[in-house]
Amino acid sequence: MKKVGNHNSISRIYSFGLALMLTFSLSAFAQSAPAAPAKADAPKADAMASSGGGDPIKGKELFNTNCAACHNLDKKMTGPALRGVSGRHKKDWFYGWIKNSSALIKSGDADAVKLWNENKPAVMTAFPQLSNADIDNILAYTDEVKKDPVPVPGAPKVGEVQESGISNNVILGALALVMFMLVVMLYLVNNVLTKIAKANNINTESKAGRVPIWQAFVKNQFLVLVSAIFLLLASGYFVYGYLMQIGVDQDYAPIQPIHYSHRIHAGNNKIDCKYCHSSARVSKNAGIPSLNVCMNCHKNISEVSDTTSTADGHTKAFYDAQIKKLYDAVGWDGTKYTGKTKPVKWVRIHNLPDFAYFNHSQHVTVAGIECQKCHGPVQTYEVQKQFAPLTMGWCVNCHRETEVKMEGNAYYDKIHKELSKKYGVDKLTAAQMGGLECGKCHY
Ligand code: HEC
Ligand code: HEC
Ligand code: HEC
Ligand code: HEC
Ligand code: HEC
Ligand code: HEC
Repeated sequence: MKKVGNHNSISRIYSFGLALMLTFSLSAFAQSAPAAPAKADAPKADAMASSGGGDPIKGKELFNTNCAACHNLDKKMTGPALRGVSGRHKKDWFYGWIKNSSALIKSGDADAVKLWNENKPAVMTAFPQLSNADIDNILAYTDEVKKDPVPVPGAPKVGEVQESGISNNVILGALALVMFMLVVMLYLVNNVLTKIAKANNINTESKAGRVPIWQAFVKNQFLVLVSAIFLLLASGYFVYGYLMQIGVDQDYAPIQPIHYSHRIHAGNNKIDCKYCHSSARVSKNAGIPSLNVCMNCHKNISEVSDTTSTADGHTKAFYDAQIKKLYDAVGWDGTKYTGKTKPVKWVRIHNLPDFAYFNHSQHVTVAGIECQKCHGPVQTYEVQKQFAPLTMGWCVNCHRETEVKMEGNAYYDKIHKELSKKYGVDKLTAAQMGGLECGKCHY
């Protein structure tokens, strides 16, 4: 009887531990995988059902290139909101209207004249280049049912400026807990086994005769010496490492007042770095663009497209709220400037000490170095960060390694000849050009 009881309690502990581990592993991995595909497939499926055969995906592309300047699905812009428009007229009417709306109005078509009177004096562009199939596709797209953005479990809510869902600490905590459970289980199992052994009169080995391991260790002086040296070296290494990283802010990535994504702008939309950081070419500072530069595009872009939102756990609603912040900051109410502005205070990330001198144009224009060489793959950063250590060693190493481009650079024609004579080489590094002189980098 007793044995059976023991057996039960062991298996109960096991199954409890297993269940616990499963819970953690599921909740830690569940969030990322299923959310994306579900979202991409859904609109396609139900739009197919609602309209006679057009492809909403192609339709969306056509809509964005041809119609989005004047139409929004849910909001009146220059033209009326178009969601569900296929129900407002007969199918053939759309072919005539979209290919040439003015002609249809002139012909006296009742629907067309009514629309014209409601929207005068705005005129819709003619699209003779669109085929009937194209128009079917567009209508399939405008028939899509409006979706509330699917909230990603564990993702931050709108307006909450935070990084991706589950934090490393939670996962670490869970792992520690699982480890702890395992130790407890081992201990319990050991206990139970000893009890069983005792009950069955099996003699467990007695430990009396042996010297405890730590006593053996203390007696062996050579081992003690080696361990002491090892400990000293290790702690010295860490202390040195700690001291050297004081004032080095590599990977520093502060939370900005507006979540501005370089991945979306410089990556997905291929906007040139120098469009925004225009002074990098000509001056010491690269500069952060003024909000007017943003508004060159954002007067017309008030929200991100549905496909953008799926990455990195940020929802479309989150991104749209960021653009809203931009509007609040410049005082744009959707159609005009209100004059009420709230300057955005970007947190500065890269910052050399005052006693060091660094000049962008020297490196970007004269030396022709890519931004990415020093700032990393910025076009992939969801949040901007400091990629390089910005230590003196980092500057100097690169000056030692990088050859100066002389060809076609009038600035160097003369210096080049003299210096290459002096060093007896054809190619020169930045270091040989004087890139190691203290005064070049220190005031
Ligand atoms: C230059 C602006 C402009 C562009 C571009 C434009 N539209 Fe229009 N659209 C209008 C205006 C304005 C009206 C209202 C009628 C009028 O004043 O001519 C309208 C009306 C319509 C209507 C009728 C809406 C209703 O409520 O019955 C449809 C359908 C339509 N447009 C589809 C399209 C499609 C599809 C495209 C792209 C291929 C497109 N429009 C591009 C300005 C535009
Ligand atoms: C559409 C405008 C825009 C474009 C294009 C752009 N940036 Fe930026 N960049 C910004 C804004 C706004 C900030 C400040 C907010 C931030 O740090 O995220 C910034 C910040 C930075 C910073 C950090 C500045 C600091 O505080 O130290 C670096 C480095 C940078 N950008 C490099 C680049 C590079 C490299 C590219 C091209 C791959 C690029 N940027 C393209 C707008 C832009
Ligand atoms: C050359 C055009 C252009 C400029 C300039 C530009 N943007 Fe954008 N921005 C876009 C486009 C396009 C999108 C939406 C992309 C999408 O739908 O995938 C966008 C999206 C955004 C978003 C939502 C996604 C995100 O990054 O969080 C914010 C916020 C934003 N822009 C802020 C800014 C700010 C601030 C500036 C000025 C420093 C700026 N933009 C300058 C084109 C531009
Ligand atoms: C040779 C390395 C190097 C290259 C190449 C480089 N940067 Fe920098 N960048 C730096 C350093 C170093 C700083 C810090 C400067 C300081 O604090 O004075 C910096 C700072 C910045 C800043 C923030 C402060 C400021 O100067 O306004 C921005 C924005 C920036 N860089 C953008 C760019 C862009 C865009 C390019 C490409 C056109 C580029 N950088 C190319 C090294 C580089
Ligand atoms: C990616 C390589 C690289 C890095 C990193 C780099 N530099 Fe340079 N630097 C160059 C090159 C190449 C030149 C030569 C440009 C030229 O043709 O004059 C140069 C030139 C200079 C010059 C002008 C030297 C002269 O002889 O006139 C100064 C000053 C300078 N760098 C400072 C810095 C500082 C400060 C840093 C670190 C914060 C730094 N550089 C980091 C590549 C680099
Ligand atoms: C290529 C540019 C460059 C040259 C050449 C250069 N330095 Fe520096 N130095 C820097 C930068 C950048 C820093 C700031 C590093 C930091 O903040 O960690 C710095 C920091 C220092 C510091 C402060 C201690 C530290 O590590 O933070 C001292 C001291 C110093 N430099 C001395 C010198 C002397 C002496 C020379 C001439 C032999 C020299 N530097 C040449 C770029 C340079």
